[in-house]
Amino acid sequence: MWDRLYHHCHLASMDPARIRETGAEEADDFAIIPDAAIAIEGSRIRWLGPRKNLPQSPEKLARQIIACDGRWITPALIDCHTHLIFGGNRVAEFNLRLKGIPYAEIAKQGGGIAATVRATRSATEETLLASALQRLDLMQAEGLGTIEIKSGYGLDRENELKMLRVMDRIQNARPIRVSRSFLGAHALPPDHDGDHDSYIDWLCDEMIPLIAAEQLADAVDGFCESIGFSPGQIDRLFRRARAHGLAVRLHAEQLSHQGGAALAARHGALSADHLEYLKDEDAKALAEAGTVAVLLPGAFYTLRETRLPPIAALKRHGVPMAIASDCNPGSSPLLSPLITLNMATTLFQLSPADALAGMTRQAARALGLQHETGMLREGFSADLAIWTIGHPAELSYWIGASPLHAMVLRGEAI
Ligand code: NIG
Ligand code: FE
Repeated sequence: MWDRLYHHCHLASMDPARIRETGAEEADDFAIIPDAAIAIEGSRIRWLGPRKNLPQSPEKLARQIIACDGRWITPALIDCHTHLIFGGNRVAEFNLRLKGIPYAEIAKQGGGIAATVRATRSATEETLLASALQRLDLMQAEGLGTIEIKSGYGLDRENELKMLRVMDRIQNARPIRVSRSFLGAHALPPDHDGDHDSYIDWLCDEMIPLIAAEQLADAVDGFCESIGFSPGQIDRLFRRARAHGLAVRLHAEQLSHQGGAALAARHGALSADHLEYLKDEDAKALAEAGTVAVLLPGAFYTLRETRLPPIAALKRHGVPMAIASDCNPGSSPLLSPLITLNMATTLFQLSPADALAGMTRQAARALGLQHETGMLREGFSADLAIWTIGHPAELSYWIGASPLHAMVLRGEAI
């Protein structure tokens, strides 16, 4: 007997391997199963398909049967790029940017990431946890089941470890799957006298071995930019990370073309993120490496960027594309997965199905979780979002409302 059977629902399975099985309109990229049922046993999806294919009547199949009144079920959403944990906020800087002072200029004057580093260093672990949970709760009210969170506002041993501990506490405090990235190479902290190379040495010699030995993070991230670190410096960091068996990902080509995406591809990175200044040959390299392009429409919007990431080239080369909030206090104070989907469609002209794939299947891939979550498929983790909508395209259509009805994470109803 299955633990639970949901029926009288439609599924947007997001599973490319699934051929549309019955009924209504033509096949589409949501991999829809109309008039469906989905069964859960323990933490796993055990069966899904058209209701008429159920081997017996529902009562004989499951201990608990839930009629969904024609609602839609998708995989729970995945935000694969966030800086959820930080002290303070940057509303003062928001005002400066509105007056026309650029993000990079504010950073050079000691604001930007450095301002949040000061606020994060002076915050207690409890304060950081409480404010991160407040933000996470808003995201979960819109169907978020998995979140990637980066460190990178501590930038010294004590405060980076503090951020990594908060990630573990978030994982324990909420029904959520947390993927942890160590972003020591986010910015040069003030205590290093302008010496980027010696800071990278310290990350390589002290932090990477510690992170690996104590399994404090799932991947190593960096910011490859004129206001961050050079490709040569990131290359050293990534070599050391990989030598310790750690996966890598990179903030690349956000404000200028530095060659970070090609570098990420050479290292077989899980993802390269932002990519507004990506070149055609970089897209080819990402495709060949299987590195996911993570597009961040919230940062594009907040910084009033005019240069679009090269979506057509990414598509032409077959690069998997994920979408994420980039939730952070500076360049993307975005707390809504659904508005992230909306921005991906309206600003980047992704189809609603590609946008949803970007926050389910492709986001899972960007986290190395593509065999675990991000699709409705037998054997996958039972991570479901149940929505009161008439079609899954509505998830990127409405702005500012959450049609979430219920969620299931690892088989637990939330
Ligand atoms: O992804 N680009 C670097 N990191 C963040 C911004 C962080 C900040 O401004 O605090 C980003 O946009
Ligand atoms: Fe970021």
